[in-house]
Amino acid sequence: MGSATGDWVYILHPRPAYAVCSSAGGVIDCLAAAWVTPVSRRPPILMVALAPGRATYALIKSSGRASVNVLGWDMLERLHYLGTRSLSRDPDKMARSGLRISTVDGYPKIEGALAVLYCGLRSSLSMGDHDAVFLDVVGVEVSEGFEPRPRVSEHRFVLHVGGSEYTTNSNSSVVL
Ligand SMILES: Cc1cc2nc3c(=O)[nH]c(=O)nc-3n(C[C@H](O)[C@H](O)[C@H](O)COP(=O)(O)O)c2cc1C
Repeated sequence: MGSATGDWVYILHPRPAYAVCSSAGGVIDCLAAAWVTPVSRRPPILMVALAPGRATYALIKSSGRASVNVLGWDMLERLHYLGTRSLSRDPDKMARSGLRISTVDGYPKIEGALAVLYCGLRSSLSMGDHDAVFLDVVGVEVSEGFEPRPRVSEHRFVLHVGGSEYTTNSNSSVVL
């Protein structure tokens, strides 16, 4: 058995990557997140692992709100941009993102997203270099033609391999 060096996490990749957004006090920020998973179907709760220094995380903590945006493969470059620049170092991050953000009941969402989960902050647990951030899913929005169990033949999703490398689903799926 080998030891778990820093790269052990990539054994579990590729993983779907999403854009997580939040806003507070007139400031909007989004980041890319691949460590996102449902943890309860009823009530609807998901977990996103966020490093304490993420500017988006600070907005989630102060507003208690976040959105998880499912971006298609056609928006890969924008997603990568969100994941490689921090609002804490670049105040123009969102202005230069090329993304249009609208607000639904105080929740920012990315225009053109395939689907959006609107979330309220439930709790968080400190976990090494990331926190486990639990979010209550308070609303969902899916674009036309997108289903809760989407047909992979119709949509191409972003899967993060590691670093700057991405892949996507093939056009085939199997129903067992
Ligand atoms: C594909 C991809 C996935 C990422 N997944 C996560 C993640 O799950 N959790 C996290 O804290 N950071 C993750 N990051 C890093 C943040 O997105 C990145 O640090 C971002 O610049 C933070 O922006 P902010 O400080 O403006 O919030 C990921 C980056 C990329 C490119």
